[in-house]
Amino acid sequence: MCGIVGYIGSKEAREIILNGLKRLEYRGYDSAGIALVNGETRIFKCAGRVMDLEALVSKSDFNGTIGMGHTRWATHGEPNEVNAHPQVSYKGNFIVVHNGIIENYSRIKKHLESRGIIFSSQTDTEVLANLIEHLYLEGDLTAEQAITLALNRVEGAYGLVIICTQEPDKLFAARKGSPLVIGVGEGENFIASDATPIVEFTQRVIYLNDDDIAIIKKDELIIKTIRNEKVQPEVKELDLKIGEIDKEGFAHFMLKEIFEQPRAIHDTFRGRVLPDFSGVRLGGLHNVLDSVSEAERIIIIACGTSWHAGLLGEYIFEEYTRIPVEVEYASEFRYRNPVIRKGDIVIAISQSGETADTLAAIKLARSKGAKVLGICNVVGSSIPRETDGGVYTHAGPEIGVASTKAFTSQVTVLAMMAFVIGHKKGILSDAAYKELITELGSIPGKIEKALEVNEQALELAKIFQNTRNALYLGRGYLFPVALEGALKLKEISYIHAEGYPAAEMKHGPIALIDEDMPVVVVATKDDTYEKIISNIQEIKARKGNVIAIVTEGDEIIRKMADYVLEVPETLPAFTGLLAVIPLQLLSYHIAVLRGCNVDMPRNLAKSVTVE
Ligand code: G6P
Repeated sequence: MCGIVGYIGSKEAREIILNGLKRLEYRGYDSAGIALVNGETRIFKCAGRVMDLEALVSKSDFNGTIGMGHTRWATHGEPNEVNAHPQVSYKGNFIVVHNGIIENYSRIKKHLESRGIIFSSQTDTEVLANLIEHLYLEGDLTAEQAITLALNRVEGAYGLVIICTQEPDKLFAARKGSPLVIGVGEGENFIASDATPIVEFTQRVIYLNDDDIAIIKKDELIIKTIRNEKVQPEVKELDLKIGEIDKEGFAHFMLKEIFEQPRAIHDTFRGRVLPDFSGVRLGGLHNVLDSVSEAERIIIIACGTSWHAGLLGEYIFEEYTRIPVEVEYASEFRYRNPVIRKGDIVIAISQSGETADTLAAIKLARSKGAKVLGICNVVGSSIPRETDGGVYTHAGPEIGVASTKAFTSQVTVLAMMAFVIGHKKGILSDAAYKELITELGSIPGKIEKALEVNEQALELAKIFQNTRNALYLGRGYLFPVALEGALKLKEISYIHAEGYPAAEMKHGPIALIDEDMPVVVVATKDDTYEKIISNIQEIKARKGNVIAIVTEGDEIIRKMADYVLEVPETLPAFTGLLAVIPLQLLSYHIAVLRGCNVDMPRNLAKSVTVE
């Protein structure tokens, strides 16, 4: 979490950094700060969002052509002005912005305190700044030497940008576990947590690797490792357009991203599905396809919404490949000494490609001999670099903290993988394979149709905006969708919501049902349709308020439920892709009506790069 932007060149740095920070606010938004160099170095910081920082900075006309900024998601120390970044070392020679956690900070702090160094914040970042300063002064070192030495002493994760006031013609940057990308310009360079602050200035980027240190001047760039080895940087062309990171007329990124799903899914299968729908080619699996097809077991690891996509993936994989699948929360998997055998295939799913628990789980699985595949959205992020193969989702940047288009594109990738493997194993005949792929081709159009419930979802939101609890039920492919619907509601509207397998309701949640309890039943037509009708009757018998998500033209449930939202008919494997749409819209409208900050819900961050 936390977003970092740095600039060095001839332009005024202030606006570049503030605008960049706004694009990175999805990474954290509880306090923000900026440092600008112009003869002297000035720091502005405050609790609150980047717009609060902007208001603060606008009271001054100080600007510079070098600077760096930070938007924070607090780990150590409450989000106030003192704990906001940049953090300054005790003699003022080093100014640091940091994303990550210095795990051995308390030991280092104790040592520095015993040398008489006084701390003003509760942050682990100030400990690092002071360690660098201490080594710099004691050892009479250059800034580069002091930073390198300090980074050899800290444990944990960091993406860092550092200014040394004694060497004000450069920025230092370093990465271990937290992403940083350098934008290479003409007579100017940029550094940021992801490419979104950079894309309007240059398309040429260098992704820093773990243990890299960069010394960035306006017309020179040196990269080495913390072991002092020279690194030959690889300059890549960005595949990102500035338009992709605008709201494009939508009130919120989340709404824009919900409406982008037809395109996101189309982009995810475009170029992979053969023109005559007879097959799917997944280039990123080319080298591992045989091992996946022969796998005795697949373990899917993920967090949050990606975990829900994984659960839906389990159902699809088992149906079409007959390979046993387990779905694990990455955070549980990594700490419970899981049984992993050599022939196991692990699939890690992550929108950001940076989630710390998922990354750690991948490393554990690989150390035990498993092959790991990734399903990620952010190109060049950490997870694809740690995996043996994988498939990008191509959903485009997802900025809203609550994930929407990432979920549907992850499910799309999982379905394509399952079909390819099922066909290769002979479980899916040519005809069945083609039928599935042809239907996949029609999903973007069907999502367009599903989005037509938007107005109805708003009307329902008006009715249920003040509810305190909600229950979401589904069976089979629709159970993960129920979980995802409940998560969307609680994340952005702060209403308590639980997702449950519909048949399990009678083992507990049924006790909660009364006339005040909205029960969202995901009941589109699939193999469990008849069963879910009985569940709806059980709810109605207890006076529950049923909002049913149904297949177009379903007259049976329409008569039983209090409210219905329709989605087009499709094959069972894809029903989740359609049924989730009304749930996303319902949560969105409820959150807006309750006055919640939809794109930046309290306490959450989009990219969770801490444990
Ligand atoms: C955070 C986000 C969620 C996301 C989860 C996993 O909690 O707020 O929207 O699903 O992280 O993120 P990943 O990038 O690994 O999919």
